[in-house]
Amino acid sequence: MRHFLTILQIPGNTFKFFNMEKQVFIPLVLALMVVGVQSTKLTFTNRCPFTVWPGTLNNFGKPPLSKTGFELAQGASESLDAPVGWEGRVWGRTGCSTDSNGRFRCDTAECGSGVVACNGNGAVPPATLIEFKFQGDGGKDFYDTSLVDGFNLPFSIAPQGGTGDCKVSGCPANVNAICPPELRVTAGGATIACKSACEAFNTDEYCCRGAFNSPDTCKPTNYSMIFKNACPLAYSYAYNDGSSTFTCTGADYILTYCP
Ligand SMILES: *[C@@H]1O[C@H](CO)[C@@H](O)[C@H](O)[C@H]1NC(C)=O
Repeated sequence: MRHFLTILQIPGNTFKFFNMEKQVFIPLVLALMVVGVQSTKLTFTNRCPFTVWPGTLNNFGKPPLSKTGFELAQGASESLDAPVGWEGRVWGRTGCSTDSNGRFRCDTAECGSGVVACNGNGAVPPATLIEFKFQGDGGKDFYDTSLVDGFNLPFSIAPQGGTGDCKVSGCPANVNAICPPELRVTAGGATIACKSACEAFNTDEYCCRGAFNSPDTCKPTNYSMIFKNACPLAYSYAYNDGSSTFTCTGADYILTYCP
């Protein structure tokens, strides 16, 4: 703001910016500030009966958020501002601790950085993912929940104060509780995550590769149906129809672990 005021105070009629007269430039800047595309506030809330370590990853060509990983105690909330046009994904890590070599690691959705910040690394599956594209076509935000990389914890997204469809999305169910034995990731006898069939069996059919690499040939399977039935609002396989992507304009978002 100080810089902007300095510009305003430049005297005389000689002021030019990118060859624009002051009389054109200043109203233009003011208009952009008022109409202004604003950043989007993401508020992470942890309602799980345990600590969660959120992870964030920007898509290629977009800047990282101010935090790429942090600790969120049971009952705590923390907000991050996503810059205009941000695209990326967020998830939650569980069972994290620092090992005897000083390396930070997590039992689920680990990002492999060795520290709490994920620093440009994504989640190792299985991980419940929420994906965003802010201020996309028509100024709309696009968001979805994906179980294509499996499930690790219930996670939901609720738009606040936007216009348009603005539906709550997410996977509020505990898929770990209904995960078939062949997909389970366990620790100390408990199921802590549920793999996708692609990760567990690595076949073209389950991974939508090869002959199955199109919306016509990549179909729901008996395994993806388990995820879809538990969480109908989430993507459960790669070419799942568009019904799982949601839109909203001008909203902030509350992201809740164990909603
Ligand atoms: C899914 O189908 C495969 C192949 O037909 C079968 O081997 C497997 O047991 C089925 N799993 C479930 C959970 O229905």
